[in-house]
Amino acid sequence: MKRRILFVDDDSNILQGLRRMLRSMREEWNIDFANNGQDALERLAQEPYDVIISDVKMPGMDGVQLLTEVRTQYPHITRLLLTGQAEEETILKAVGPAHQFLSKPCDAEVLKTTISRTCALSALLEAPTLKQLASQMISIPTLPSLYTELVQVLEDPESTLEHISTIVAKDMGMTAKILKLVNSAFFGLPRQVSSPSQAISFLGIETLKTLVLTVQVFEELKPKHTTNFSIESLWEHSIQTGDFARKIAQAENLEEHLVSDTLAAGMLHDVGILLLATQLPDHFAEAIELSNAQQVSLHEAERQILSASHAELGGYLLGLWGLRHPVVEAVAFHHQPKVIETQQFTPLTAVHIANALHTEKEKSGEQREGQGIQDEYIDSIGLTAHLQSWRDICQVSMS
Ligand SMILES: [Fe+2]
Ligand SMILES: [Fe+2]
Repeated sequence: MKRRILFVDDDSNILQGLRRMLRSMREEWNIDFANNGQDALERLAQEPYDVIISDVKMPGMDGVQLLTEVRTQYPHITRLLLTGQAEEETILKAVGPAHQFLSKPCDAEVLKTTISRTCALSALLEAPTLKQLASQMISIPTLPSLYTELVQVLEDPESTLEHISTIVAKDMGMTAKILKLVNSAFFGLPRQVSSPSQAISFLGIETLKTLVLTVQVFEELKPKHTTNFSIESLWEHSIQTGDFARKIAQAENLEEHLVSDTLAAGMLHDVGILLLATQLPDHFAEAIELSNAQQVSLHEAERQILSASHAELGGYLLGLWGLRHPVVEAVAFHHQPKVIETQQFTPLTAVHIANALHTEKEKSGEQREGQGIQDEYIDSIGLTAHLQSWRDICQVSMS
């Protein structure tokens, strides 16, 4: 099915340019153009669209207002913002309503790749309820104690980037949001990054202060009661899985940037659990009950109730936010790595192993989150002989 894309810009020359630039994609996409926010909303009311790409500065309704409106009225649409270099402050404000940012003038290849990726993501998550949930998320909640610690550190003039990075790297919400921002094409990094410390040193302390203290991009978790579920143990599990996965990836000699991807993916692999527990607490409690009653893993129970699991939900959200593909893949398939037909060790392999080993060690039968290592998968990539050494790595880390 052809995807429908809507471009919004008040400058007709820019729209002409985009039309020329995307001519080669006519077979795959239906592309429409609107001159202003109002015009865009009228079109959206008439036709179903998959992606909207809007300029920021427009007379009347600006791009941030438009995307905020689209988020409320048509939450399933992917929202991209095109911005000029002088508009950094606007970008920081739009880090919620926009899924990703593109710099203006936009390189044709960057534009095509970004749109293609967001279209391909759709296939990852079929469940409409969860798609809508992911698309509406402005932020992933942050552990209150880490949030308070970060605010204190940022208010201290003596604080260092290193100290700030250590706090951000311990939190799923902060890590994902920082990576979302820095990886947007707007910042023009030569290569996308998955390391929170690299991302923070790129943004600098002043921008980070604006983001956290003024724009308040991070949102503190407001715990809702969820049976049999401990938020603290989810954080502990995420940090440990990230750490195990990174060490396993290093032992397998993955390239440095893939080791960063592995660490980020390990840290973020269960971000879908956090979303389900906080946004759909009743369904999530039901999944936990079902998992206990039928002795099936949590992700299987989620699939029975919601038609998708926390893994796909998390992967989909991080993909919408433009995180690197190896991170998205590792998060989305950490319970079923076999889906990806590759003969190689990848960040997904490391996260799958690390998650299973940490769940084993925790012996947290209450959640039955992990399904254990899929021996058949490890065999298919020819690494069964490495299993014991991976177990040893995790054993040493835990002691
Ligand atoms: Fe999981
Ligand atoms: Fe997990």
